[in-house]
Amino acid sequence: CGIVGYVGAQSALDVVIAGLKRLEYRGYDSAGVAVLADGGLAAAKKAGKLLNLEKELVDRPLPSGSTGIGHTRWATHGAPNDANAHPHLDNAGRVAVVHNGIIENFAALRAELAERGHDLASDTDTEVVAHLLAEEFSSCGELTEAMRLVCRRLDGAFTLVAVHADDPDVVVGARRNSPLVVGVGDGEAFLASDVAAFIAHTRSAIELGQDQVVELRRDGVTVTDFDGAPAEVRSYHVDWDASAAEKGGYDYFMLKEIAEQPKAVADTLLGRIDANGSLTLDEVRIPAAVLREADKVVIVACGTAFHAGLIAKYAIEHWTRIPCEVELASEFRYRDPILDQRTLVIAISQSGETMDTLMALRHAREQGARVLAICNTNGSTIPRESDAVLYTHAGPEVAVASTKAFLTQLVACYLVALYLGQVRGTKWGDEIRAVVRDLSQIAGEVDRVLETMEPVRELARSLARKKTVLFLGRHVGYPVALEGALKLKELAYMHAEGFAAGELKHGPIALIENDLPVVIVVPSARSRSVLHDKIVSNIQEIRARGARTIVIAEEGDEAVVPYADHLIRIPATPALLQPMVATVPLQVFACELATARGNEVDQPRNLAKSVTVE
Ligand code: G6P
Repeated sequence: CGIVGYVGAQSALDVVIAGLKRLEYRGYDSAGVAVLADGGLAAAKKAGKLLNLEKELVDRPLPSGSTGIGHTRWATHGAPNDANAHPHLDNAGRVAVVHNGIIENFAALRAELAERGHDLASDTDTEVVAHLLAEEFSSCGELTEAMRLVCRRLDGAFTLVAVHADDPDVVVGARRNSPLVVGVGDGEAFLASDVAAFIAHTRSAIELGQDQVVELRRDGVTVTDFDGAPAEVRSYHVDWDASAAEKGGYDYFMLKEIAEQPKAVADTLLGRIDANGSLTLDEVRIPAAVLREADKVVIVACGTAFHAGLIAKYAIEHWTRIPCEVELASEFRYRDPILDQRTLVIAISQSGETMDTLMALRHAREQGARVLAICNTNGSTIPRESDAVLYTHAGPEVAVASTKAFLTQLVACYLVALYLGQVRGTKWGDEIRAVVRDLSQIAGEVDRVLETMEPVRELARSLARKKTVLFLGRHVGYPVALEGALKLKELAYMHAEGFAAGELKHGPIALIENDLPVVIVVPSARSRSVLHDKIVSNIQEIRARGARTIVIAEEGDEAVVPYADHLIRIPATPALLQPMVATVPLQVFACELATARGNEVDQPRNLAKSVTVE
């Protein structure tokens, strides 16, 4: 969910709505706002996208005020309807609260409130907080103190932001686990789930820590813990350019972000390889001695970031000879994984806020492992709680389906793998030298791929009525196939599955039927010739059974030509770097198919970009 709060001299409603637009990627099941005006509190909320709320505000305008809050929801408790939309109010309509996360003991609290005569209108855990705040406020007369008292009674992960008609110049926020940042302006202050909501107004931000309550007034911001003791906070300057979060002439953010990939890749490499081809990763603060002693690497991540991790495993094991496991963050801590001081855990996350990944890294640190985060969002929770962080420099990624963040995660993973090799004195063979050289050129190769995407778009349009597309790959092409299938599911809502091509004959080949589109990612002919030949056989096997083969192969690979119904060319790269170029056509393919099927590219149904619940 996305949250915004504002107090200042501007129209709170305008600031809050503009902020919610920037946060809509976090959920778009419903949206709502509340403003304090004329001694009272006025609220509006609507199921569906923010646009529905904006229409509602045109039909039924709210009075103008300079203190307000807003919310865009990704539903957890309760259906995505008007009643369950935030903000939630108490029975007297004096307090309004918005919430991100899950309050685990809400059923008990709700029963208590009902016993005391409260009338709860929604199925949400959030409404409970509004009623509790109203109760506490009536005895202490101050919203900030009321918030602290309520927070002490809540279990689970939450961000709460509230206003009260009887404390009219204050917005109060509270944070446990879920993200919340403060923006400090001149005579105004902001609260939001992400700095994107307020960078148009201020670049000066404060990171809230765990279990902190913040009070926002026009002339300043006060942060305490849940007991009221002053809390230490970190202020920082946001260096993202506000225009980076604009569509800049593209129809969708996703198209813009796909196009930005060469720059994102180059920016992520910038300053990290010196003239001799050595890695200079000063930010990896884990001492070299610790890295030398590491006997295992474990990568945890979710979704697209997990696919980056799967690819990283090939590079890490091949270049460093350290065993590497990759695990879905949501599965990790529940199986009692074997971890100790010699385990290096790498947590990959674009947002830095994914709850599953955060919980996995906390578990790893509790067991004594060192955690290195690969993250795109400065000041977010995952890097803050890790021992070290290697930032990807993709810039803000707004489209829900990840593209440029993925490519930069791959770059970061390669850098970490090479760096591990460097500090451990792995024999630096020709291959590694070639990789460093080729990495420096990879942004240009991605650019070349982007220039040749028209046939891919045409092909995608011609498949708009298909129900299923399969993806095959081997070696690093296997995770690429998984990512291609994920993109298609997310965007085109089609049945799509990725398989290891060698596994096909053990079951999935039964799915092949006449004219079924199958995308095959062909390994580099240059460095993995055995594998290459095997996949050429796999292509023949499925084609003989009627599949329509869509072959992604290197320039110059002639062996695949006779078996390709459609051929998509990518530049030749070292085997381990191939995902950098092979993923791009799959992103374009999914994006175009989604458009052809009339789907919303940037905000696919049911999804959210940053999932801050487990
Ligand atoms: C959500 C998004 C995915 C993303 C995953 C991990 O599920 O819809 O696109 O890959 O979270 O996000 P992260 O921010 O941790 O990389």
